[in-house]
Amino acid sequence: MIIKQKVYLVLLLSVICTYHVIAIPNLEERATLEPTAKIIGIKNDQYIDEFGRQRFFRGLNVVYKGFPYYPKIDAFDPVTSFAEEDMKILASVNMNVIRLGVLWAGVEPIRGKYNETYLKIIKSIVDKCNSYGIYVLLDSHQDVMSDKFCGEGFPRWAVHAEGAWSFPLPIGPAAIYDPVTGLPDKATCERVNWALLYLSRAVNIAWQRLYDNYEGLRDAFAAQWAKIASVFKNCDNLLGYDLLNEPWPGDIYHNPFLTLPKVNTRENLSPFWDAINTELRKVDNNGIVVFTGVTWDLFGNDFDHVPGGPAYNNRSVFGYHYYKEIRIKPPNIDFQVHLEDIGRIGGSSLLTEFEAAYNNGKNLPGILEIIQAADKYLQSWIGWQYKDFFPLTRQLPGDGLVDPVSGKVRPDVAKTFSRTFAEAVSGNTVNMQFDKEFKLVYKIDPSIKKPTIIKIQEKYHYPNGFIINISPNGKVEWKKNGNSILVSPIKGVNIQNGEVITISIIAK
Ligand SMILES: *[C@@H]1O[C@H](CO)[C@@H](O)[C@H](O)[C@H]1NC(C)=O
Ligand SMILES: *[C@@H]1O[C@H](CO)[C@@H](O)[C@H](O)[C@H]1NC(C)=O
Repeated sequence: MIIKQKVYLVLLLSVICTYHVIAIPNLEERATLEPTAKIIGIKNDQYIDEFGRQRFFRGLNVVYKGFPYYPKIDAFDPVTSFAEEDMKILASVNMNVIRLGVLWAGVEPIRGKYNETYLKIIKSIVDKCNSYGIYVLLDSHQDVMSDKFCGEGFPRWAVHAEGAWSFPLPIGPAAIYDPVTGLPDKATCERVNWALLYLSRAVNIAWQRLYDNYEGLRDAFAAQWAKIASVFKNCDNLLGYDLLNEPWPGDIYHNPFLTLPKVNTRENLSPFWDAINTELRKVDNNGIVVFTGVTWDLFGNDFDHVPGGPAYNNRSVFGYHYYKEIRIKPPNIDFQVHLEDIGRIGGSSLLTEFEAAYNNGKNLPGILEIIQAADKYLQSWIGWQYKDFFPLTRQLPGDGLVDPVSGKVRPDVAKTFSRTFAEAVSGNTVNMQFDKEFKLVYKIDPSIKKPTIIKIQEKYHYPNGFIINISPNGKVEWKKNGNSILVSPIKGVNIQNGEVITISIIAK
């Protein structure tokens, strides 16, 4: 009885708090939002918008791993929704990107039959994000390939492990299958850490068959990307196509050298990315393609070209993840490895996952270390993840920004994430940092007609106001518009191309 009452109390509180969250968003901020500028490519290692400005992104993943493979969209929920209120919450901490799961199992549940309803719903999320200045990176998400292997991502028809040892041998005893779903039962899936299931012989064979285009699987995967591109290519707030999350390198039992980036990139990954790029580019030759290496490419990815070759350097981005347990090195050192890679092959790079869970506040110093390093190397970042949604293949509770019981924004997380940053820079960024002081140094390009935009969050960082210093004097001026500081050349003043502008913002 007491327990029941407690449950009701929690429910009641969560209803009240949820209502509170919905009431927060600042209408003034929204009303003054600039229309989303289309991202057209990569120049000098950075994203460029249609006005020629460099662009920087901060945000979180939104990946719903179980059927129907998208979050609840019609109303706010502390754990499962990505509704309009959620977009307001992200915008309120100056986040301007999400990495949105678009799972192959959702796009093509039956071979050759795309689920138009699914694509329409995903499109409605992307379009709504646009009204909040939030860009979307579409992510073909997977972990351990499929629910046939206790993971998610691929439709069941695309998993070919015939002839292999029973799943998950040799990692565990052969699975017991649930008579209703035909899938491995809970005990099988929970016996070992999900990531170890990648070492099942069956999983390795299924991945190698994807790369080998067995029964046209690679072609089908590429064709679904062309289908996705046909739906999203004209969205103003499309950041790009993240071709496949955390690819497994192939059948490492057949060829153990495939564990080495030098071997798996040449043998499997690079030809795979090229094949998808070819199909996707028939539909959208301008969009940005995000490709990746294996998660343990600690000393570099060993690609020798971006998908499709050097002609696509200005439309390609290397996506990487930072998890301390896997990467071992501190983020500062790890990011350098990726920058060396893109220096060699071209394109840009983007941090598409890092641990952003709250963990009773214990993760906050680690999060700060990563996003500070990201500033230092001018890397855009997307944390894992906004909410737990459908917590498959996950050990920790994944919630961070939003308390999963009350639905309230956690102020300490909001403060960490809402660090002052330049979202758009009218020139070439030399340096951006934020500790006590925010500092942006850039070489201005006076031919760019749109302002530099610096996002600030007064509530968390400037409760008593702020002071802006600009050097040299008399070249550019600023005005505040909602959460944005807009910096433009002063009319009539002569500014040399490449003149160095320094802007600092200090809290009062
Ligand atoms: C990218 O390069 C191609 C030629 O290699 C060019 O046609 C295209 O306009 C460039 N795109 C951008 C955004 O600069
Ligand atoms: C297609 O997507 C809709 C919306 O999620 C879902 O209700 C329906 O079951 C899906 N169709 C198939 C065949 O999975």
